[in-house]
Amino acid sequence: MDTGSDYEVRSLEASEQGKRNIDLARAHMGALMAVQERFEREKPLLQVRIGMALHVTKETANLVHTLMAGGAEVAITGCNPLSTQDDVAAALAVEGVRVWAYKGESREDYYRYLNHVISFRPHITIDDGCDLVSEIHSRHPDLIESIIGGCEETTTGIIRLKAMQKDGALKYPMIAVNDNLTKHLFDNYYGTGQSTLDGILRATNILLAGKTVVVGGYGSCGKGVATRSRGMGANVIVTEVEPVRALQAQMDGFRVMPMASAAPKGDIFITVTGNKHIIRMEHIRVMKEGAILANSGHFDIEIDVAGMTEAAESVRTVRPSLQEFRVEGKTRYLCGEGRLVNLAAAEGHPSEVMSTSFCGQALACAYLVAHRNSLDARVHQLPSEVDQEIAHLQLQAMGVAIDEMTAEQTAYMRTWKEGT
Ligand code: ADE
Repeated sequence: MDTGSDYEVRSLEASEQGKRNIDLARAHMGALMAVQERFEREKPLLQVRIGMALHVTKETANLVHTLMAGGAEVAITGCNPLSTQDDVAAALAVEGVRVWAYKGESREDYYRYLNHVISFRPHITIDDGCDLVSEIHSRHPDLIESIIGGCEETTTGIIRLKAMQKDGALKYPMIAVNDNLTKHLFDNYYGTGQSTLDGILRATNILLAGKTVVVGGYGSCGKGVATRSRGMGANVIVTEVEPVRALQAQMDGFRVMPMASAAPKGDIFITVTGNKHIIRMEHIRVMKEGAILANSGHFDIEIDVAGMTEAAESVRTVRPSLQEFRVEGKTRYLCGEGRLVNLAAAEGHPSEVMSTSFCGQALACAYLVAHRNSLDARVHQLPSEVDQEIAHLQLQAMGVAIDEMTAEQTAYMRTWKEGT
């Protein structure tokens, strides 16, 4: 580990590669670069300290640069023990950014690093999964007074924040960046759809065509994974607990059934629910020989890995990101230790979708500063104009022009007098 007063990373030697990867991502993050240019001119984040617990990836590095362009000081750690790109963390450290993260963090280091970010006394927190907010509220409530607000990146984090709000435990305003249309319609659907399969393929190099893929959960992420799996020639089964989503899956042409029925049929199982123990021992026992298990939900509790480990006669690492469990004489493969496979075994979502997600983060920080002292301590959504603006910027960056309504059409949309 390379350690300095303001960083702890795997090895600074990887920094040149990290810089090249950050540059590569930037070339596909046009909307974020437009926000960065505006931030450079307008400096909306002057004298603001931003503490981040996000996946430390080449895309996140570009968000860090954008916030710094806006005048912020930044400190960052990871939000998952397996998702840090060590070369990117090294590049940030070499640039002088406060960064504590490495791939394969112990639980102890994970919380030690969160506390380094907390010691930086952030005015704004940016979370992916709510661990930073939760740690501040449970162990550092003294800090809350000086916090303007926070931003949350993911569905799981929003669920935790809403539970805090319901309990009266949430003590500063939070922006649900995940709920921006330009976040969840793209990042969760296209991003998770592609990067989850990318992770499973890098871990196993399995052929998807002709396989039966069981997708647990049909939210935006599950829809993306199911659709991309079908696109690669798999037969897809969806499991759900929510009847409307289950009906959608059925009408989208997928087979829908309980996990107990899907378990003996599947070759590959992918959980994306945000809930726990979707795949339990009663399912694992009846799976086919050689079944592959992967999770793409935020936490590593969707598959009962602890139960499988306990029941296993043997566990061995076949190669990076792939473990083989022998359970009751049968083989099961687990990708990325049951942690979110798209980041544990691949590089996370592609830069194009992170561009619009991270515009949301950057603009949410500026919004919090512009509205400081006027937002109450609950979960807020950004105004829909912000979504429109982000979509425009990314379309522009991709060289896509669209129509504008004519004056006649605008008037028509406002009238109730024209009918049959
Ligand atoms: N979450 C999913 N993919 C990501 C990425 N590439 N960077 C940051 N957070 C992510």
